[in-house]
Amino acid sequence: MQGVLNIKKAPPDEGFEFVLAGRSNAGKSSALNCLAKNKKLARTSKTPGRTTEINFFKVTDEIKLVDLPGYGFSKMSVDKKKNLDTLLDNYFSSRQSLCAAIIFMDIRHPLKNSDIQMMEFCHKYEVPFIPVLTKSDKLNSSAISRSIKDVEKKLNSKPVIVTSSKDDEGFDKLSKKILEFVE
Ligand code: GTP
Ligand code: MG
Repeated sequence: MQGVLNIKKAPPDEGFEFVLAGRSNAGKSSALNCLAKNKKLARTSKTPGRTTEINFFKVTDEIKLVDLPGYGFSKMSVDKKKNLDTLLDNYFSSRQSLCAAIIFMDIRHPLKNSDIQMMEFCHKYEVPFIPVLTKSDKLNSSAISRSIKDVEKKLNSKPVIVTSSKDDEGFDKLSKKILEFVE
């Protein structure tokens, strides 16, 4: 793992990168661990704001998963937030190997303003995004179906992927989606 706060320190711009975005506490780092099948890879936490740098994880020879700090974390200092915004602008605008962003949202409260802004940010830099609803273990199946339907409708029928890091569900589907960009 390589954590950076400056784009110049990022690993070489090669292979295929997928960036994990989402609000603080949405479950990005937990999902990264499930995707990489290594529960200790990315640090997860009950305290929002655990991830504070851009962390690059090499999961295969060619594929890197890039864990981002969660947005909407109010305790981050103004300076740090500014740095991070600049870093993200630089990263999204210049990174050739960036294939897609995976936007993680807690299934119980998806599509907050900050999520929509992230989607618009992706659009601005022409980076495709994959919407993921996390923590499905927190809802029963009919509530899950309702949430999927609602989110897909709001995203103009874009399909969403549902995951649970607790039950290790949905990650085969997400891996498949990721590989579609690589092939
Ligand atoms: P930041 O790094 O602060 O942006 O958070 P994050 O999005 O990386 O979240 P993280 O993976 O650290 O998870 C936050 C909390 O949610 C932790 O307590 C996790 O154990 C819990 N969590 C994550 N995924 C799931 C899930 O699928 N189900 C349940 N029940 N809890 C989850
Ligand atoms: Mg994290």
